[in-house]
Amino acid sequence: MTGATRTTARGLERIEGRAKVTGTAPYAFEYPVTDPLYLHPLRSGIARGRIASIDTAAAERVDGVHTVLTHHNADALNPIGDPELAVLQSDGIDFRGQLVGAVVAETPEIAAHAAGLVDIRYERLPHDSEFRDDANIVYTPDADASPMLAPDLERGDVDAALAEATYTVDVTYTTPPEHHNPIEPHAVIATWDDDGLTLHDSNQGSHLVRDLLAPLVGLDKERINVIAPHVGGAFGSKGMPHGHLALTVLAARRTEGRPVKCALSRTQMFELVGYRPPTRQRVRLGADPEGRLTATEHDSLEQTSRFKQYAEQSASASREMYASPNRRVTNRLAALDVPAPTWMRAPGEASGMYALESAVDELAVRAGIDPIELRVRNEPEVAPVSGLPFSSRNLVACLRQGAERFGWQDRDPRPGTRREGDWLVGTGVAAASFPSLLFPGSLATIRHESDGKYRVEIGAADIGTGARTALTQLAAETLEVPVDDVELRLGSTEQPNAGLAGGSAGTASWGSTVVDAVRAFRAEHGSDPAAGAETTAGAADNPDLGKYAMNAYGAQFAEVRVHADTGEVRVPRMLGVFAAGRIVNPRTAHSQFLGGMTMGISMALHEHSVVDGRFGHVVNHDLAGYHIAGNADVGSIEVSWVDEHDPHVNSVGAKGIGEVGIVGTAAAIGNAAHHATGVRVRDLPLTPDKFL
Ligand code: MOS
Repeated sequence: MTGATRTTARGLERIEGRAKVTGTAPYAFEYPVTDPLYLHPLRSGIARGRIASIDTAAAERVDGVHTVLTHHNADALNPIGDPELAVLQSDGIDFRGQLVGAVVAETPEIAAHAAGLVDIRYERLPHDSEFRDDANIVYTPDADASPMLAPDLERGDVDAALAEATYTVDVTYTTPPEHHNPIEPHAVIATWDDDGLTLHDSNQGSHLVRDLLAPLVGLDKERINVIAPHVGGAFGSKGMPHGHLALTVLAARRTEGRPVKCALSRTQMFELVGYRPPTRQRVRLGADPEGRLTATEHDSLEQTSRFKQYAEQSASASREMYASPNRRVTNRLAALDVPAPTWMRAPGEASGMYALESAVDELAVRAGIDPIELRVRNEPEVAPVSGLPFSSRNLVACLRQGAERFGWQDRDPRPGTRREGDWLVGTGVAAASFPSLLFPGSLATIRHESDGKYRVEIGAADIGTGARTALTQLAAETLEVPVDDVELRLGSTEQPNAGLAGGSAGTASWGSTVVDAVRAFRAEHGSDPAAGAETTAGAADNPDLGKYAMNAYGAQFAEVRVHADTGEVRVPRMLGVFAAGRIVNPRTAHSQFLGGMTMGISMALHEHSVVDGRFGHVVNHDLAGYHIAGNADVGSIEVSWVDEHDPHVNSVGAKGIGEVGIVGTAAAIGNAAHHATGVRVRDLPLTPDKFL
């Protein structure tokens, strides 16, 4: 793919870096295919009801239009339990912007023009699309529909402990809906031929896409090939296939083998690829005179869609974080007539730890105890609910090292006392935690080529995070050869099965697969293998799974300035110190943490999808109205990590790093803003009006 790779003190350079910055790394939409057609989706203009009539005649008459697809003429899909993928299967409307058809034409412009000529009439039903305080239809999440759901938790007597506590806080935080905006919008090219179906798709796991699509369209898995060598960012929205994929597959069945290209616009992405649901979280804490928690209660209400359940369970952040003899944790859902939410970087932890870590700061202020000291006093010896020992837990080391580097010792704890010119200045801290997950079932093939090099194949995904680089490095290291002697292939179902790039589990899952497959190769073929020697193997079973609580931790520090007259909030300085086991590649790991923290600045200061309840859509549905942190919002962000050797997590010793970087960031910024001003804002984002 590129010339020789370089290893510097900061780690192996990103293998595909040169191809990316020179524009030669192909992304899904630009993959060269012969004689493609272009799809423009038709979307519902109402939030709930049914299509009474849909007139496509004018669109079909446009020169260059190949096909107009609606629920009248679309092929049947097999129900596979995901309503998002059941596109064009009925006349029903479950949310505004729902896919109700497609125009396929010779150019994207013709398709868009013709789509505007389709006349859709509706029968409306009353809808409820606004997440409100008196929230809507509240129900307990259904564990069958969300298999990873943690049930409600109740330990001890929270009410009695709160009544007896020396210090208490009882506070409610809200977080708004936030929408995915990876640099590369969602895109797919679908091609049917005699062999089956080929998809060039921007995704977080080609094998998962294939496994879901095969039953949907009634094809053997072997007849579907999904290819995604490069992905321009994902963060959860490309984890599961969405409706546009099914729509493009349906459309491509009508084009006599011509490939159909579909690229969603940003505006369409605000309705079709998932988002972080809004939450309202009540946190009640009780503590003794020394600030030791006697009671922790965290109740979260979150949005889901009426047509498809997604349960984010933000309150679960409080299950295992701090020692507390009495504890109650509940997650509830409000089901609305809205698009389905989905995972978005640290789903649950990002919103849940925002509430918990802000409330802990409020408790520290109330008790007059330094917020770092208060956290240290609440360190559990074992995981509080499961009772399992920690495989390693270095939160205190992160807090202490961070305090040292950040200059915490000079901090005057009194809020609203530091002023520089027109700016009120404060500092804040928050803890971060994210589980170390391992997805089983990945396989890797190691092959010794006749030119002496090794080819390593694994159907993993590199969503821009550096998986290709880290896996090449691990393979070379275990083979004891230079990295240039390893050619790693990933991103496609042409390679052996590998799980999703999700849950920050990539390096842990695929890394241990590659390491253990190389070990199996060497056991089979020795250290001087013949040309053509080949082994396919998965990760060895980890005997420690289930015996330890496994999490990455971090400490987030922020300096915040709030303008005394305008309320403008700036974040000139942040520091994140993390404990995440072995850092395989310092260069790409640094970028991961930095990216997570930058997204945390976005979450704290900007991100807010504003829903117009009258119509059920997001009003600020593009990058002009939906603000994310730009260069001018980011001052200095320093990232570091503590040395952590964890022999239990996996054979690489690496914990996930993709998501822990965003966790706690918004709380650290909010806590610093309170320290600066004395104003406690409990509703994200921290916009200027809230400080005036
Ligand atoms: Mo992540 S939200 O598991 O892509």
